[in-house]
Amino acid sequence: MSSFVKNAWYVAAWSREIGRHLTARTILGENLVFWRRQDGTPAVLVDRCPHKLAPLSIGTLVGDDLQCGYHGMTFSGSGQCVRIPGQAAIPPSACAQSFPLVERYGAVWIWMGDPALADAQHIVAVRHYGEPGWALVDGQYLHFDCNYLNITDNLVDPAHTTYVHKNTIGNAAAEDVSVKVEQGDNQVLAYRWVNDSEPVPLVKAMGNFTGPVDRWQYYYLHLPSVSCVDFGSIATGREHSEQEMDAGLRSFSYNFLTPETETTTHYFWLHLRNYHADSAEASTQVARLMTDTFLEDAAILALVQREQERTGVREFVRLGIDNAPARIRRLIARRQEAEQAATATSPAASQTAVA
Ligand code: FES
Ligand SMILES: [Fe+2]
Repeated sequence: MSSFVKNAWYVAAWSREIGRHLTARTILGENLVFWRRQDGTPAVLVDRCPHKLAPLSIGTLVGDDLQCGYHGMTFSGSGQCVRIPGQAAIPPSACAQSFPLVERYGAVWIWMGDPALADAQHIVAVRHYGEPGWALVDGQYLHFDCNYLNITDNLVDPAHTTYVHKNTIGNAAAEDVSVKVEQGDNQVLAYRWVNDSEPVPLVKAMGNFTGPVDRWQYYYLHLPSVSCVDFGSIATGREHSEQEMDAGLRSFSYNFLTPETETTTHYFWLHLRNYHADSAEASTQVARLMTDTFLEDAAILALVQREQERTGVREFVRLGIDNAPARIRRLIARRQEAEQAATATSPAASQTAVA
């Protein structure tokens, strides 16, 4: 059974990736082709001509439309066939599937579920985006060789940082600090404070703390697969309030997970910080550190995925730290059941065929 949730907005690409050329990408197991119309609006179709199923991504852009590279059928961005060479009549069934797209936060978002439910209001709000005093590192991409749920597990699991990220964002001080979990309708939050401890390597490099710090990690997972990590440090003794946290060294790391296949995931990320906000060098340093950190996750998750596939088992024992991941998987399973129930009661999708 598929692990995907279809009724959700996913980042399909960074805006800069989509232009006056054809970009092929697989999302939720479906092959897609993206381009921009002449007015700059993005377009997407299933990367499959309804005639002989040639990939449309090997075709050609003709004005706003996409011409198949096999026999020249031409489709608008909405999927309508606008031309069949050598044939005047265009059968109504001669169309390719398209999907709603929205551009926000420098990214193109796609909705591959029921188009009637595609409301852009449901795109996650990125905190402090575009605000003065907050530096942005964006346009970042990694490819993970694992199912996206192994990454959502990881992104609400502060405990692994001590071991996987000892060279970047973790240290041994947090080893025995337990994690608290809160659950809403559309999100799960795992968080903890590690008090009166030595700053972790990243904070040491970026902050100017002279003594011990209180460090927080708030791991939000907005269903199905947008993660926000609120991470920072304040001098020990300061109040644990939003105001003091904003005055300390603080960052928000957003990870937009877009399932590619059941065993691979697109990992788009951006990062906002309130320290050295005007420094390009700091941005480069943050990009490098975060990339190194996420590659540490990618390496262990690829190995986890491989063993899960080999054994057919996801885990043999459940620990206390699995509370948040287990909640996410339960909530996602519920969404999938609801989607499947809705699909079962709707009329079957018609096949597209060319007469
Ligand atoms: S396969 Fe596309 S027009 Fe024939
Ligand atoms: Fe990690």
